[in-house]
Amino acid sequence: MTLLVFGATGDLCQRMVLPSLFGLAADGLLPADLRIVATARSRLDTAAYRDLAGRALAEHLDADRLVPTAVAAFLDRLTYVPLDATDPAAFGALAAAVRPLAPSGDDLAIFLSTAPSLFGPTIAGLVAAGLAGPGTRLALEKPLGADLASSRAINDQVAAAFPEARTFRIDHYLGKETVQNLLALRFGNALFEPLWHTGGIDHVQITVSETIGVEGRGEYYDGMGALRDMVQNHMLQLVALVAMEPPARFDATSVRDEKVKVLRSLRPIDAATVEACSVVGQYGDGAASGAVVASYATDLGHASRTETFVALKVHVDNWRWKGVPFYLRTGKRLPARQSEITIAFKAVPHSIFGTTGGALRPNRLVIRLQPHENIRLSIMAKEPGLDRDGLRLREVPLDIGVPNAFADVRRRIAYERLLLDLIAGDPTLFVRRDEVEAQWTFIDAIRAGWQAAGMTPRPYAAGTWGPSAAIALTERDGVSWYD
Ligand code: BG6
Repeated sequence: MTLLVFGATGDLCQRMVLPSLFGLAADGLLPADLRIVATARSRLDTAAYRDLAGRALAEHLDADRLVPTAVAAFLDRLTYVPLDATDPAAFGALAAAVRPLAPSGDDLAIFLSTAPSLFGPTIAGLVAAGLAGPGTRLALEKPLGADLASSRAINDQVAAAFPEARTFRIDHYLGKETVQNLLALRFGNALFEPLWHTGGIDHVQITVSETIGVEGRGEYYDGMGALRDMVQNHMLQLVALVAMEPPARFDATSVRDEKVKVLRSLRPIDAATVEACSVVGQYGDGAASGAVVASYATDLGHASRTETFVALKVHVDNWRWKGVPFYLRTGKRLPARQSEITIAFKAVPHSIFGTTGGALRPNRLVIRLQPHENIRLSIMAKEPGLDRDGLRLREVPLDIGVPNAFADVRRRIAYERLLLDLIAGDPTLFVRRDEVEAQWTFIDAIRAGWQAAGMTPRPYAAGTWGPSAAIALTERDGVSWYD
């Protein structure tokens, strides 16, 4: 078995792919014969690439994981072939290195961790060099286009050489343990599902906030903005997982069939509704993690109209979710790094405790993806003590205690799951073409709406929860964001 990695000297490869592959190898989860052929433009040889990979592991993994024999055995799996993907002739040398390792093509998986502008020439080069055989799998990293049209163009290019069943589109959120835990929670327990609909749920909130700014990725980010960088992919996938019907089985077709139905049921937000249903912001000067930080325009080096924050009120127009708003927000330079899904249940229909018991707060199920994964259910409980006027109630958390329950299990990088599945050929946690296209359809309408309504980002100070209009977006419905 051979894994061929393009973009092997890039940031993603060094931060995520190599440490993940090492983690899998060290735990004995990779096929014993797996070879990794790394390629990029830099004119290195295998020894120099192994040095680079060793340094990447040392930088991105805890020292106690770096057992010297395991590191040496891992580096030994690596071969490096320099390649300029825009030069068709260069693929001959690559094929000469790969073919002896993966003679049938069924035992070859390819990971494109490059700029999308290289997808076309790379695929053409692979085909011409005979490296796109009938069993070969191809994994692609985002951005898969910047709108529906460009995403279709990329998908068409890929489809000409790799059928859908062998195309693995990565959304790294699907590799996160807690995202998969959402499925376990919903479909491994009888407790929640009977309430999981408009009759039991008042609204859903999804927050993915980051404290970082654009961190040297300004050029890419400025061309995308928060809507396309985070909502189009990760956040809509979270919506799909929260809202999907129970699939018949946990397999690629059943799960993705149900997700795409949700994505196609999203009520379009267009020119008529965009002002009521969306808020966009851009960070100005402010503070992050106790330090003074500069505005987006300063980070970028020029003024820009790209949003670094977006909040949306989304509806899933089907029987289950009729009338249940999904509030989404994401942004850079917010006060905390926090990814959370909150399911806010409906209030009890009638309080038997009168006014002395205190306000009865509706139950909330909070699924925290990061920084510390956890699942917490808030319930009303009696305050201990005697009170002449009757029972006093208080909201207390029922902590599912994921960190303690699984304290002995190492938390894995999302890419470990995804790389393992790519090598095994299981696409369940990868995004199918119809999903990506439904996601872009929804996003394109919002962007067209912003343009038609002349909406531009409102300023917010770095280190705050976005423009105040984002607070008004939910407060109008009598709902507060859970910070
Ligand atoms: C990426 C975005 O897809 O996800 C980044 O391009 C963002 O802008 C990142 O920072 C967030 O991922 P995570 O796993 O840190 O939540």
